[in-house]
Amino acid sequence: MISADLIVTNLAELVTCEPALGEGPLGVITRGAIAAAGGRIVWVGPESRLAAEVGAVPGAQRIDGRGAVGLPGFVDSHTHAIFAGSREEEYALRARGASYQEIAAAGGGILSTVRATRAASRDDLVELALPRLMTVLAHGTTTIEIKSGYGLTTADELKMLAAARRLAELQPVEVHSTFCGAHEVPPEFKGRTDAYVDLVVDEMLPAVAERTLAEYVDVFCEEGVFSTTQARRVLDAGASYGLRAKFHADEFVTLGGAELAAELHALSADHLLKARVEDVAKMKEAGVTAALLPGTAFFLGLPYAPARKFLETGVRVALASDFNPGSSMGPNLQLVMTMAVSQMKMSPEEALLGVTLHGACAMGLEQEVGSLRPGKQCDLLLADVPNWRDLSYVYGVNHVTRVLKRGKVVHPSGERRSDMPNAAESRLVSGQARSVPAPRPPLP
Ligand code: NIG
Ligand code: FE
Repeated sequence: MISADLIVTNLAELVTCEPALGEGPLGVITRGAIAAAGGRIVWVGPESRLAAEVGAVPGAQRIDGRGAVGLPGFVDSHTHAIFAGSREEEYALRARGASYQEIAAAGGGILSTVRATRAASRDDLVELALPRLMTVLAHGTTTIEIKSGYGLTTADELKMLAAARRLAELQPVEVHSTFCGAHEVPPEFKGRTDAYVDLVVDEMLPAVAERTLAEYVDVFCEEGVFSTTQARRVLDAGASYGLRAKFHADEFVTLGGAELAAELHALSADHLLKARVEDVAKMKEAGVTAALLPGTAFFLGLPYAPARKFLETGVRVALASDFNPGSSMGPNLQLVMTMAVSQMKMSPEEALLGVTLHGACAMGLEQEVGSLRPGKQCDLLLADVPNWRDLSYVYGVNHVTRVLKRGKVVHPSGERRSDMPNAAESRLVSGQARSVPAPRPPLP
């Protein structure tokens, strides 16, 4: 008999994302149930077997799923969720025909966010990001990667990463940080990109590593930003401090970033709108995850990455939001799944794996999160849909009604947190009011 302190029952389906545990590539268990102890999953299976196999410890929490679909918490492997300022004017300019690169060349783009972020304190950044993370959580993301890259001085990059660390303490979404000092060349280094790379490698990286403020290293490997040679310098230097590479590759121009990712055995190569399929095949051989970010193509009005051609190579495809104020101002991974299916012709199964297990692979966290199997964290979403396919089929709305992180209900939450700034709190409360599900009769 397995003992549990949390038991979730009355689910129409439990989508484990572990084919060995249920039907089809998603391992779906009809009328499934799940049990956890100490925040970790101890049992999943058909509810009909629960009573015989699992015993509740005294005081165990029981959750009635009211006929919802249960699935793993989403893992968003690529975001820039910490920033100050807003770029809604650029959004309007693009609607009048300006391109992302033209806006950047004119001093807008990333550098506009850099100006605002430099002017903000660590606590300002935390206060701005907290309501965003509440929205992220309400839409089902329980693990998130967040990059620096809007500071571009040693002090401002450290400030961004310190804000990420503080955010991790203040709210339930699990935050993993990436040092992205090579996100853009700051104005004071204009025309001296190599000198800026020296600063990144010789000063910023050691300072970040000394304070253990990041797990990953990223670089915007792109024409007019950092070449593959410069990217390699940054990523190699990061590796010498134990930071794993996951980086912006072949987003706007074919530079060979995907090939570099394969050569360096990066965790992931991200964007890949212009990647060569033969380079993606090399990524597959090297075990690198292809992280596709359809929200960016959508928001910038660009052609999508050729996901089907990539999938034919056998490469693992993750889907992430790229949540940032310039190229993708949206954190909703349910909508990202819709884009993946309707625009990139991924199957609904591939799309759901992209935001769960494969997102976890893109962060090296596949032993911890991304699927519902005994031993992993009990990060569970309850969605008010008749079956899992509706998650991306019925689009533009939030289907997630309840979120558990490490076995605790973290959304909606009636608890007031004294350390939470007011804006975040009111957003959390209004989110809660919108998303409490109508009671459903128990399943027969
Ligand atoms: O992933 N390409 C570089 N970084 C982001 C955009 C960041 C920004 O525009 O602020 C991206 O598209
Ligand atoms: Fe990005």
